[in-house]
Amino acid sequence: MSAFRIVVLASGSGTNLQAILDRLHGKSIPKASNSGPPADVQVEIVGVGSDRPEARALKRAATADVETATFPGSDFAGDREARDEALGDWIEGLGAELVVLAGYMQLLSSDFVRRFHGRLINIHPSLLPAFKGLDAIGQALDYGATVTGVTVHFVDEGVDSGPIIAQRAVPVPAGRSRTKLEQAIHAVEHELLPETIYLIAAGRVRLGEGRAVSVK
Ligand code: GRF
Repeated sequence: MSAFRIVVLASGSGTNLQAILDRLHGKSIPKASNSGPPADVQVEIVGVGSDRPEARALKRAATADVETATFPGSDFAGDREARDEALGDWIEGLGAELVVLAGYMQLLSSDFVRRFHGRLINIHPSLLPAFKGLDAIGQALDYGATVTGVTVHFVDEGVDSGPIIAQRAVPVPAGRSRTKLEQAIHAVEHELLPETIYLIAAGRVRLGEGRAVSVK
């Protein structure tokens, strides 16, 4: 069976990309796995794109022999539409069936979001709709939340507002240490994102009308 082809976009350290590389890329999940889809589903990262040429995520991709490309704003004279068109052309040229935003720090144009409707997902470090936007972990701490978490969602034209596919709660640790909370959230991200991608690859996630998402 041919692999399910994905592109990952990342601006930073790329630990979520690494989790996808380690857990999914080119692998089959044993049929014994409870949460895993059938073993005949394989996921292949066919490209990693970034807005930042210095992003560590690109080095992780290169180490794994995955194609990379950078789309810095300066190459497009600040024209976001033109940049996202080039980005979209690159993604489609790779035959990607899914685009995964894993710490991609650029707002995508409406045209891009429409072009990849239903095949564009994001991971966010809170239980949406709480704590949208930047520094969701800091927002949760400042707000005094005792539970926060991780969300994987389809991307729409708003910020962190698209239909939710999967969420997992993370308790705020005693003492409210930011470092400990970050570690706990990242550990959950590194499980939830590969699990969700795998479910999508297995055809078990359907985006319906409006915000309706069914996961079998
Ligand atoms: C993650 O916390 C993710 O939820 C957010 O950006 C961060 C990316 O981290 N969207 P990394 O680059 O994958 O380590």
